[in-house]
Amino acid sequence: MNKILYTPISNKKIEITDSDDVYIMALESSCDETACAIVKNGRKVIANTVASQIDTHKTFGGVVPEVAAREHLDAVNLVIEETFQKANMSGNDITAFAATVGPGLVGCLLVGLNAAKALALSYDKPFIGINHLNSHVCANYIDTDLNPPFMALLISGGHTQIIYVESYEKQEILGGTIDDAVGEAYDKVARLIGLPYPGGVHLDKLAQYGNPNSYLLPTAHVGEFEFSFSGLKTAVLRIVKAEKHPNTDEFKQNISASFQENVSKNLISKLEKACEKYNIKQIVLAGGVAANSEIRAKAFALQAKGYKVFAPQMKYCTDNAAMVASAGYFMTNTYNDLGVEVFSRTK
Ligand code: KG4
Ligand code: ZN
Repeated sequence: MNKILYTPISNKKIEITDSDDVYIMALESSCDETACAIVKNGRKVIANTVASQIDTHKTFGGVVPEVAAREHLDAVNLVIEETFQKANMSGNDITAFAATVGPGLVGCLLVGLNAAKALALSYDKPFIGINHLNSHVCANYIDTDLNPPFMALLISGGHTQIIYVESYEKQEILGGTIDDAVGEAYDKVARLIGLPYPGGVHLDKLAQYGNPNSYLLPTAHVGEFEFSFSGLKTAVLRIVKAEKHPNTDEFKQNISASFQENVSKNLISKLEKACEKYNIKQIVLAGGVAANSEIRAKAFALQAKGYKVFAPQMKYCTDNAAMVASAGYFMTNTYNDLGVEVFSRTK
């Protein structure tokens, strides 16, 4: 892999070759985590720092964008300093600085992006802008020998997509959700049964004690690689309203298990169909919901059919900067220009 980047002040040419050690420092602030990391050659994490705002947003039952942006401002310099300290490195040791450009909350993205641009300018090192969705997929390169082509299932609080990764630089979206993202559906259903925000992980835990066949829930008939979760969510709402004892552990466990079974079956069967259609034998999971126990179990069960299956370590499933640094190494051609602006939705 040979790549050429330029420094912003002196316009010096930096060549990245397979034989050079490349250290990328990245910042991620697209939602409610302020994160910074240094990754060597796209696969080895040297330092990884995440400041989570979950406790702040719990009070509101969701992320309040303005509050989140202010918290990023408070945290950003601290996470950068801590990451340099953990790595025992300075800006001079970094090959290039990267940051998430979008999609995400605009006020939040601006904080990490501008911090990375400022670092690139002050150390005269190249800047690399990264798409948040691409970076979730790249979390799978950390500590593995994964190489494209592969099929990725990206499941997070904001996105649900099947992505065909043809090469390091090329990720093609085959289909996605037409309404709620899977993480959003998890969080909304979790809220219906009184679980704290963000509810996905709590619902996952409860589901392990329930009977997945307790309730027959609908699966939407949409396009080949599309998803829809709004009807499912409404079906759960109706069951909760009709239930005489909605606060018992037994009810919560059973409805959680049934919901989880429905979602995981739907996701993994479409992922498998995409692999068959494109003749792909490698699968990766990505995004916050890739931490889900049942989705992981069903994906790894595909190994019995000859698939090679990857899923990021738990700490690299939810938002973090190590995945952004990895994307900065493997996907340098995205937005490596200091003039790049943040964007809220995938264009
Ligand atoms: O990727 P992420 O950190 O942020 C976005 O870019 O959206 O994903 C956060 C989402 C939340 O909806 C959260 O509830 C969900 O991931 N999540 C889970 C689990 N852990 C996190 N959903 C289901 N099961 C889990 N174990
Ligand atoms: Zn994310």
